[in-house]
Amino acid sequence: MAIDSSFEEDQSPRFYDPGAQREEAPFEATLRPQSFGEFVGQRQTVENLKIYVTAAGQRGEPLDHILFSGLPGLGKTTLATIISRETGTSLKATSGPVLEKAGDLAGILTNLEKGDILFIDEIHRLPRIVEEYLYSAMEDFTINIILDAGPSARSLKIDLPRFTLIGATTREGLLTAPFRARFGVLEKLVFYPPEDLTRIITRSARIMDVPVVPEAVELLAKRSRGTPRIANRFLRRIRDVAQVKGDGTITTEIARQGLRMLGIDDAGLEAIDRRILEAIIVHGGGPVGLKTVSVAVGEEDNTIEEVYEPYLIQQGFLKKTMRGRVASEKAFKHLERSRADSKNNLFE
Ligand SMILES: Nc1ncnc2c1ncn2[C@@H]1O[C@H](COP(=O)(O)OP(=O)(O)OP(=O)(O)O)[C@@H](O)[C@H]1O
Ligand SMILES: [Mg+2]
Repeated sequence: MAIDSSFEEDQSPRFYDPGAQREEAPFEATLRPQSFGEFVGQRQTVENLKIYVTAAGQRGEPLDHILFSGLPGLGKTTLATIISRETGTSLKATSGPVLEKAGDLAGILTNLEKGDILFIDEIHRLPRIVEEYLYSAMEDFTINIILDAGPSARSLKIDLPRFTLIGATTREGLLTAPFRARFGVLEKLVFYPPEDLTRIITRSARIMDVPVVPEAVELLAKRSRGTPRIANRFLRRIRDVAQVKGDGTITTEIARQGLRMLGIDDAGLEAIDRRILEAIIVHGGGPVGLKTVSVAVGEEDNTIEEVYEPYLIQQGFLKKTMRGRVASEKAFKHLERSRADSKNNLFE
C-alpha cells in the first residue's frame, strides 16, 4: 500500500515513553519487573513467550510479531519491555493515536535496525490508513512510498530490516481481522488472582522499603481488582497513611483506614463503580443503555466500558445484555438496595 508525499514533510519519528503520560509513571518504572523471572503470574503467557524467545534466539531470527490484549494495568507494556531486555534488542515505543499519517509510521519504520522491537501501544486506535500501511511492513518487511504528487508521482519500494512489532490493546475486538491475522503471537492477559497480587505487593513493598504485615498485604491483594497497577497505587497511598498516622509500618488497621480513605469498599469497588451500579439500580436494575449510565456518572462511555465494567462483570455485579446493562442481585445486596426501593425511585 502506498502513502502520499507527507512522508517527506514530516519525518520526525513519533516515539514516546510508554506510560509517561500517567501520574504514576515514575513509580511504574521502578516497580516494573525487568525479567520473566520477576514477572508474577500470567503463567501460560510467560511460558509461551519464553519458548518463542528461546527458539527465535536459537535460529538467530527476530521474534514473530506479538499482540498483547488485556485491560489497563495488567502488564502489556511490562511484557514488551521484558522481551526487549531478554532478547537484548532495542525497543522503540509509539502509540496508535500518535501516528496520524502513514508518513509518521514510515519515518519510524525506516529508522529501525535489524531485530529492533517496535512497540505500538493502543494499537486499536491506529488510523485505518496507517494500519493498512503496516501490512506490507509486517508481512514482507517492505514499504512503498510515493514521492511527489500528480503526474510526476513515483513509487519507491523500500526494504526494511527484519523487526518485531509488539502491539498492545485494551480492545482487541476493535482490531480488524486482516490486522490480527498478521500477528504470529496473540496473548491475552487476564485479571490476577489474589495470590499473585500478594506476591506483587510484597515485591513492591520491598522495593519501596516499606514494612507491611502479611495480613495487610492479603487485604490489599483482595481489593485491587485483579490489577497490579491498582495494587501498587494502593500501596503507595497507604504507605503515606502509615507514615503520617502510624509509625511507618502498614498494619492491617492502617490498610483498612487507607482503603476507606480511598473510597474502596469490601468488594474492592470504588465510588465510581458504585455510582455505575446505582445508575442502573434507579432504573429498576436495568436494562439501561451505556449512554444513560455515562451521563449519570459523568464519565466517558469508553472509560466505563474499558476500565470499570470488566471487573463489575467478572465479579457478577453487572451483566451486559442486548438491551443494555443489568444490575445483578449481588449488586442490589452490595448497595443495600431492594428492588422495591429502586422501583419507587423511578417515580420520585
Ligand atoms: N506480572 C506483574 N508482576 C509485577 N508487577 C506487574 C505485573 N504486571 C504489571 N505490573 C505492574 O503494574 C504496572 C502496570 O503494568 P503495565 O504498564 O505493563 O500495564 P499495561 O497493561 O501496559 O497497561 P495500559 O493498558 O494502561 O498501558 C507496572 O508498572 C508494574 O509495576
Ligand atoms: Mg501499557
